[in-house]
Amino acid sequence: MEKSKSDKDPQGDILIGHGAFGVDYVPKKRRAQVVAGRVYGGKIAELSPGKAKAIPLDRFTIALFRVDDEFYAIKDACPHAEFPLSRSSLVSRYTVMCASHNWHFDIRDGHCVKIGHCGHAAPDLTVRTFPVEIAGEEIWIVVERKPVSRDREQE
Ligand code: FES
Repeated sequence: MEKSKSDKDPQGDILIGHGAFGVDYVPKKRRAQVVAGRVYGGKIAELSPGKAKAIPLDRFTIALFRVDDEFYAIKDACPHAEFPLSRSSLVSRYTVMCASHNWHFDIRDGHCVKIGHCGHAAPDLTVRTFPVEIAGEEIWIVVERKPVSRDREQE
């Protein structure tokens, strides 16, 4: 029997152990679930300041960074060649340097601060960012826009 579209694993085409940068296969049980447009990013105390962690979803992975008590979420794939930015380091307060070829990105808005060794800035080149919400001790990352109500659309 053929699987319905909803049963098909979105990562089913990734060969285990052969994923390109940023698209390694992650077993379904280790992927975060989207609940009301948000994914759970863990408890605040579980992520040390200056560190990042990867949060895999079905179709992409999020890199969640902590800077003191601020949290920023970006797509965990460098726009150059998709190396995971969660496996890279913050080189200044808000700048992550991709560990693969040293491109720098601002984790607040995702823009490219510097391209590798040549040092050019490329502000139009960005990595996707996601809003982060804190609820008590829990971190939540917004991955889907809230639907606009019909009343607001007509405003
Ligand atoms: S993959 Fe990030 S700089 Fe090349």
